[in-house]
Order: sequence, then structure tokens, then C-alpha cells
Amino acid sequence: MAVLVTGAAGFVGYHAAEALLKRGEDVIGVDDLNAYYDPRLKQARLDRLAVQPGFRFVKGDIAEEATLDDAGGQGAIDRILHLAAQAGVRYSLENPRAYVRSNVMGHLNVLEFARGLGPDLKHLVYASSSSVYGGNDKAPFAETDPVDNPVSLYAATKRADELMSATYSHLYGLSQTGLRFFTVYGPWGRPDMAPWLFTKALLADQPINVFAGGHLLRDFTYIDDIVTGVLKVLDAPPVAGTSRLYNIGNSNPITVNDFIATLERLTGKTARRNELPMQPGDVRATHADISALERDTGFRPATPLAEGLAQFVEWYRGWNGV
Ligand SMILES: NC(=O)c1ccc[n+]([C@@H]2O[C@H](COP(=O)([O-])OP(=O)(O)OC[C@H]3O[C@@H](n4cnc5c(N)ncnc54)[C@H](O)[C@@H]3O)[C@@H](O)[C@H]2O)c1
Repeated sequence: MAVLVTGAAGFVGYHAAEALLKRGEDVIGVDDLNAYYDPRLKQARLDRLAVQPGFRFVKGDIAEEATLDDAGGQGAIDRILHLAAQAGVRYSLENPRAYVRSNVMGHLNVLEFARGLGPDLKHLVYASSSSVYGGNDKAPFAETDPVDNPVSLYAATKRADELMSATYSHLYGLSQTGLRFFTVYGPWGRPDMAPWLFTKALLADQPINVFAGGHLLRDFTYIDDIVTGVLKVLDAPPVAGTSRLYNIGNSNPITVNDFIATLERLTGKTARRNELPMQPGDVRATHADISALERDTGFRPATPLAEGLAQFVEWYRGWNGV
């Protein structure tokens, strides 16, 4: 039996697929390798998976039903790790249709595919986001907090996914877990996110855009911790036929200013700051209450920021040859 990993050429999907392969699982990966960021990075991740026994791949768009049918034809699937999505808050102001296509239509197609698997399907784990908490000013964010006020279309599509999933569990008895990821960083990370953008600018002596004085708080979570948590969750389905949600984050938010200071130490550079106001769609703070995930799976993040960022900077230098 194989695990279907959507978004397998993406940052989290690549690492999760690799961890599954490492423990001897068969993995069927799906990704459309779209150009939201440099497809060469996606292809390079994929190349590293493709050489491992047990990995099969379907290139296609999950907003098209046929893509998942193709994946289903690759072998028997009993678990799904659904990570493909149009990610990024700011880009959702520029290209809202990409979000509804990949995150709403794509999620529906994954649900329909899961339904079609019938009793073979043991667990569908899908990516939601801390952004569903919107402007929540109660910290830390708990799964029981209200999530009815998204401040970006990205957040609205992720909340829609949670509601669609709950409906499918109710109607068709799918066993599901939605994971609300909090700012993931690490090697093979995303070029549109702050760790990459800041490191790139520092190493090139370019100015960095700092929003709201750098006082925004982010719960940066190292990729290896995320993968450990994702696999723990995948291995522990909820009560059959039900749907649940967990935060998955570091539960230790730091300011963007502290983040920059850590990167300055690691790169030996001093940031040239381009101070900008807070951006539409941004939130002041993210902070995960992870007590539910810890209680149910024993998840505990283990990587201090300085250690995780050192890994990232080393990888970044190698990948970019700088
Ligand atoms: N990285 C984070 O900090 C973070 C935070 C919150 C939530 N998330 C969520 O976690 C998941 C993984 O994020 P990531 O950081 O790995 O992003 P990513 O962009 O690196 O990976 C997503 C992958 O999905 C693929 N994809 C997108 N739309 C597709 C479609 N319609 N059909 C097929 N493939 C498609 C992309 O090509 C990409 O390789 C996403 O659902 C994202 O919204 C990530």
C-alpha cells in the first residue's frame, strides 16, 4: 500500500515524501511543477526523490480530476498526505483565481478521490494554515479559537478546505486530519518566504524589506520538526470516519527583528533595512498552541532557531553557489 503525497515537489511535500521513503513506504507523488517560484528548485527536489526505490510520480494539476485518477492507477493507496496548494499570503492579492483553483477545486478533487478509495482509505492528512486565525489577538492560537475572520483570500481557501473536509467526514465517513502549519523554514525551502528573501539580500548586500518595524511575531518552525509531526499524525488516524484539526508549530514566536539579527550573525553581514508599513493580508503575530497535538501524538519541536537557520543558510549557499 502506498501513500499519495500531493505537492511532492514542494518544500514540505519533498521532505515528507523523503521521510516516508526512508522508512520503507511506497510513495506516489503528484505535482504540477508550476512556476509560482522557480520550477528548477521543484525539479531538483523531485530528482532526489525519483532515484529512491518506492517512488512513483504523476505530473499534473489536482484541479483536474484526471490527475488523481492517474495517480490512483499507479498502485493501491491507503493514506493521503495532501500538501499541494497555491501558498503565500501576498500573492493571493495578485492572483486570487490561482488560490480557488488549486486550494478549493484541488481540495474537492482530493476529497472525491479519497471517497472513491472507500474502506481502503485509512487516513487523509491535509495542509491548512495558521493564517486561518486571521487577526486573532489572543495568544497562543488554539484550535478552539474562532476562525471566521480571514484577512487574506489564501486564509479563506484554507478555512474552506477545513469545512469541506469536515463535511466529507460527516457525509462519507472519511478519517481526516487537517494540520495548521506555522511558518516552516529550512533547507530546500521556499524562495517567496522571509528566510530565503532575507538571506538572499544579506549575502548580496541588498536592502531587505522590513514591515511594521520588524515587530511582527512569527512562530518559525523547522522543517525536520514539521516532518516528524506530520508522520506522527499520519500514523495516528482519528476515530474512524471523523475529522479533526491540529496546530503544528514551534510554539515559541520571535520578532522579525530577532530573526534578522540571527541571520546577521550567521552570514556575518549587517542588514540594510527598507522600512515599510504592514502589508494588507498580514497578521501581527502567529503563535501555535500545540498542546492538543502533543497530548495525542507526543509531538514536540526540538530545533532552536539558530540551529535551524544555520542549516538553512548552509544549504542556501550551496544551492545558489554564494
Ligand atoms: N511552508 C509554510 O510555512 C506553510 C505554512 C502554512 C501552510 N502551508 C501549507 O503547506 C502546504 C505545503 O506548503 P509548501 O511550503 O511546501 O509550499 P510549496 O509551494 O513549496 O509546495 C506546494 C507544491 O504544490 C504544487 N501545486 C500547487 N498547486 C498545484 C496543483 N493545482 N496541482 C498540483 N500541484 C500543485 C506546487 O507546484 C508545489 O510544488 C501547502 O498546502 C501550504 O499552503 C505551508
